[in-house]
Amino acid sequence: MKKSPEEHAARFDEKASEYDESKSDEYRACANLVIEHAAPDAEDVVLDLGTGTGAIALALAPDAERVVGRDISEGMMDEARAKAQEKGLENSAGSQDDTAGSRTLESVNVEFDRGTFRKPEYDGPVDVVTSNFAMHHLSDEEKREAIEVIAGLEPDRFVLGDVMFFGEPDPEAPFYSPDVDDPATVGTLADAFTSAGFSLTAVERVHDQVGVLVAERSPVAETEAPDADSGE
Ligand SMILES: C[S@@+](CC[C@H](N)C(=O)[O-])C[C@H]1O[C@@H](n2cnc3c(N)ncnc32)[C@H](O)[C@@H]1O
Repeated sequence: MKKSPEEHAARFDEKASEYDESKSDEYRACANLVIEHAAPDAEDVVLDLGTGTGAIALALAPDAERVVGRDISEGMMDEARAKAQEKGLENSAGSQDDTAGSRTLESVNVEFDRGTFRKPEYDGPVDVVTSNFAMHHLSDEEKREAIEVIAGLEPDRFVLGDVMFFGEPDPEAPFYSPDVDDPATVGTLADAFTSAGFSLTAVERVHDQVGVLVAERSPVAETEAPDADSGE
């Protein structure tokens, strides 16, 4: 990590109000692919890490049972909370009484609170973990630790969209700033996923330095391996 979480939080607090206005085509394509691959069912709980202003969390909320967004920047999450209230994302089990126009955050099926990749501050059930354009703030070792922590939450899948190197790193590319960002190669991420018990089921290349990886928990981790001597 080239900056501490506090430094990253301060950077994003500062840019939060303009964040949604400055998006590249590659960012949009990446976000759309994360949303498409996450595809939660109506019973699924989604955990969105590095949720920012809620681009992924708010897009998935209408289809999911519940979406939990975690980030280190209160400024970014304040934008997300405001958008959630504007959208009035009601939980079917939540209060439907909006006659006074007073829907509260408690009545929506999306919540935003502080949490990091390695300490998401969430220990409930999770079916789908998502993250878009955020994990590249961690060093490769920290990404590996984060992927282990996420595997420990036992989601069915983890959809990661981010700056990642399909070829050679190019510090001139517009998708990252070498002084604050630390993207990994696709190979390093694939290795971290498989070491944590995931199988990569899709690799989407948006650009030579932007992609989406879909990791699913390996069935072999959930069922007993056959006895090699039994001939089964
Ligand atoms: C470029 S924004 C992406 C936001 C959102 N996912 C999107 O697609 O628009 C990166 C976000 O990652 C958050 N972030 C950076 N380091 C983090 C960490 N260690 N844990 C959680 N969030 C982090 C930042 O605060 C910021 O909101």
